Amino acid sequence: MSEPPAGDVLRVPFQEAETIIITEPRGQRHFVQLKHGDKFHHRRTGHISHDIIIDSPPGAQLMSEQGVRVVCLRLTLEDFILKKLRRRTSIIHPKDLATLLVRGDVYPGARVLEVGLGSGATSLILLRFIGRTGTLTSYERREEFVDPALANIRAAHSLLGDPGATHEVKVSDVYEGIEEEDLDLVLLDVPEPHRATPHVYGALRPGGILLSWLPTVTQVYHLVRQLQDEPGWSEVETRETLQRSWAVAENAMRPFHRMVGHTGFLIRTRKLSVGTGNWELGAGS
Ligand SMILES: C[S@@+](CC[C@H](N)C(=O)[O-])C[C@H]1O[C@@H](n2cnc3c(N)ncnc32)[C@H](O)[C@@H]1O
Repeated sequence: MSEPPAGDVLRVPFQEAETIIITEPRGQRHFVQLKHGDKFHHRRTGHISHDIIIDSPPGAQLMSEQGVRVVCLRLTLEDFILKKLRRRTSIIHPKDLATLLVRGDVYPGARVLEVGLGSGATSLILLRFIGRTGTLTSYERREEFVDPALANIRAAHSLLGDPGATHEVKVSDVYEGIEEEDLDLVLLDVPEPHRATPHVYGALRPGGILLSWLPTVTQVYHLVRQLQDEPGWSEVETRETLQRSWAVAENAMRPFHRMVGHTGFLIRTRKLSVGTGNWELGAGS
């Protein structure tokens, strides 16, 4: 049988066993797993039977038994990553995952390697965007992280929209080498990416992209100086993405007092085809 069209799984009514968001009138959110016969209860809202939520459409506004109106929504992938994904490692924050999709030029059908798998947050975003014709390989050095990460990916499967991408996980150390070739993108989320750059160079297609995610400036300095010294890289860039939410009410508009202050830096560079073209032979100078 052919796969359902992308996105259909997100349009169906709420299903038994699905975790949904119940939002109170003032915006407080509750993550609730639906089960026939159960009731959601909170002191501010009162009771709502799961039986009336199951088979309702996403976005349904329902009245509790005490007369309080709540909104029921399906989780987005961002909700899942921030609130439901079980973390065994640090993860890349969704604001930075969004950035890396564009900086990595991720497209449906892309061939991508990510290192390491960690908790699977980055894999989820990549799997969604490379689509059913793409391939994602994830290297992870520590075998004990693989099953929990795959459990996270399975738990979010119905939220992907188009869950057809091929995903292969390898227990492997990127500092020792990369088997894959002709890749569009390699994403390194490891502490010493400078130890992997020669392997990444061999694995990328000409013009392919290396992204490295790093939390500290000393790591950035080490990697960037090395990339600037190696002949095979062009356009080495370092960026940080800051995100600030705003509160908007009648006659009052201001940034939130709290924000995520620091997550990390994204280094991006592209593979040159060393030894090709006439410039290196002296004709273009
Ligand atoms: C910060 S976590 C990755 C988190 C992941 N990007 C996510 O969003 O869930 C870094 C992972 O890289 C793995 N790792 C570290 N060095 C590695 C190496 N040389 N080769 C493969 N995996 C490595 C660690 O075991 C860890 O699981």
